[in-house]
Amino acid sequence: MKKALITGITGQDGAYLAKFLLEKNYKVYGLIRRIVNRDFSNLEYLGIANKVDFVDGDLTDEASLINAIKTIRPDEVYNLAAQSFVGTSWDQPLVTSEINGLGTLKLLNTIKNHWPSAKFYQAATSEMFGNSATDGFQDENTPFHPRSPYAISKLFAYWMTVNFKESFGMFCANGILFNHESPIRGKEFVTRKISDGVAKIKLGLATEIKLGNLDAQRDWGFAGDYVEAMWLMLQQEEADNFVICTGQTHSIRELLAIAFQHVGIDDWDKYISIDPRFKRPAELHALTGKNTKAKNILGWEPKLSFEELIKMMVDADLERLKK
Ligand code: NAP
Ligand code: GDD
Repeated sequence: MKKALITGITGQDGAYLAKFLLEKNYKVYGLIRRIVNRDFSNLEYLGIANKVDFVDGDLTDEASLINAIKTIRPDEVYNLAAQSFVGTSWDQPLVTSEINGLGTLKLLNTIKNHWPSAKFYQAATSEMFGNSATDGFQDENTPFHPRSPYAISKLFAYWMTVNFKESFGMFCANGILFNHESPIRGKEFVTRKISDGVAKIKLGLATEIKLGNLDAQRDWGFAGDYVEAMWLMLQQEEADNFVICTGQTHSIRELLAIAFQHVGIDDWDKYISIDPRFKRPAELHALTGKNTKAKNILGWEPKLSFEELIKMMVDADLERLKK
């Protein structure tokens, strides 16, 4: 039985990846940090909270990582832990860098020194591109131009991952994932903020949603589809970096229209107010990925469409709120 260690197991992707690997008959270990109220609700939502083995640790504490790696001796390590909210990264740039940047380096160092045969997956991001594009798209050859402390911390981790592969011959892969969402997406992210807000408005529990820049465009996919790509990257002969995306871009306005129309509301703009607090000091205007490399080499393709994804999220929030 293969063993996988997932950092960030309590987050959205950690939960979907754990479920995916359990179904592939892996023994799954999850690194969890000491916080006052530990939250296993994502794992519970997917029905797997009691199927994962938890190990205490924090990405910023190398001693805890050494303990985890030496005890588990994993075949595969998926580094998903992060301060993952871009907006917060301007308010907490040091914490963001400590966790996302230096934390990744500590984990790589630990694997190199204590269990170098482990294959390593790094959760890189389309944020690293900033507003840079090649013929209107971003792919593996598009130059990086990060525009937030979050993106910069992730770029550091990206190059460290490449460097450990090139310097020490370790199996280290970066998944450059574009935005991906689900019913267990954190409520501060715009898709879930909208699905939750629309469900509340429909049920008479709220009257408006306060948002920032409605003109931003993103390439949004389903987290359940994207975790398969993470796993596929570690099943290759050679480690490499892959863009994972749908290739379709939509604006926040389109997102709002689909979500509201799904509950029978056409005049959605009267429920929206613009709050400058939700605008970013430096914005990424549009992201559209090109997934040709992933399609050709990994045989990976997204399954759920944007419209299906948003409807699924609204339905899940309606269900949750009714309970
Ligand atoms: P998420 O829901 O915010 O989950 C983040 C996870 O990291 C949580 O389990 C959190 O644990 C853990 N964590 C935070 N700080 C930690 C620390 N110091 N030590 C150990 N664990 C820590 O994020 P996600 O959406 O699942 O994303 C997973 C990864 O993919 C992240 O690295 C993110 O930056 C990256 N990514 C995400 C997307 C996307 O669209 N979702 C796209 C590209 C890349 P607690 O429960 O203790 O807070
Ligand atoms: N969160 C949020 N809240 N975003 C808003 C709001 C609002 O009220 N109003 C407009 N937006 C816009 C943001 O300015 C941004 O352009 C877009 O909606 C998406 O914001 P988020 O959902 O917060 O995601 P993100 O694109 O900044 O970051 C996510 O995707 C990255 C991959 O591209 C995160 O998951 C990152 O961790 C990930 O790396």
